[in-house]
Amino acid sequence: MSVLALVPAAGDGVRLGAGVPKALVRLGGVPLVVRAVDGLLASEAVQAIVVAVRAVDLAVVRELLAGRCGQIEVIVGGADRSSSVRAALWYGLHRFPATRTVLVHDAARALTPPGMIASLVAAVEAGWSAVVPVLPLADTVKELNPVGVVLGTVDRSVLRAVQTPQAFEVSLVRRAYGLAESDPGASAVTDDAGLVERLGEPVHTVPGDPLAFKITTPWDLRVAELVVGST
Ligand code: CTP
Ligand code: MG
Repeated sequence: MSVLALVPAAGDGVRLGAGVPKALVRLGGVPLVVRAVDGLLASEAVQAIVVAVRAVDLAVVRELLAGRCGQIEVIVGGADRSSSVRAALWYGLHRFPATRTVLVHDAARALTPPGMIASLVAAVEAGWSAVVPVLPLADTVKELNPVGVVLGTVDRSVLRAVQTPQAFEVSLVRRAYGLAESDPGASAVTDDAGLVERLGEPVHTVPGDPLAFKITTPWDLRVAELVVGST
């Protein structure tokens, strides 16, 4: 067992406002968490998956994911995304001790192409200890002062938007999440690679994909429905 994927899916989906947790929202009839897991399996690069969900959704998600090939475990997540990832990580490393590479994904990035997932695993296997998928920014980016007046235009050529899965060599992600427990600055970190950056370790990049966008708002879900309907 070498590649373990963590799928935090314990959020409420407040911004989507669907009345059910986002992971259970159906897209083309298939819940987002099921699409995310099936995308990981379709990459053929992942051997084990730990999904973190709200306690009340444990039974229903286990039922939804039953019968798939591959090792899939569903556990209870935490109060925020990083708590859910941490719970899944500690559980997964205990349950799958032969893990060499860890992918940290989002259930909300339900349309992530399997080929992109495979490219992240390949980059870790090629020797990079931390790898994230990135996209260039299409819009011009401005820096503002606190009352919304433009201070200047940022050079967007050096900026990238970051997606998931993010891929890590196992000892590095273990160290990053272990140290984060006693690092007050870690709470401001907004992605998993950010914890690796706090260790001073390099983070490599591979090309992301527009299909790996995070379904956050009703607009995003509408876009996702159009994508699914057109494929
Ligand atoms: N997540 C999680 N545990 C939490 C909060 C979020 O596992 N306590 C997961 C979500 O289920 C999602 C991913 O982290 O797959 C990214 O979070 P986000 O897009 O913010 O989802 P929600 O937190 O569900 O949405 P919102 O912030 O609008 O409530
Ligand atoms: Mg959230």
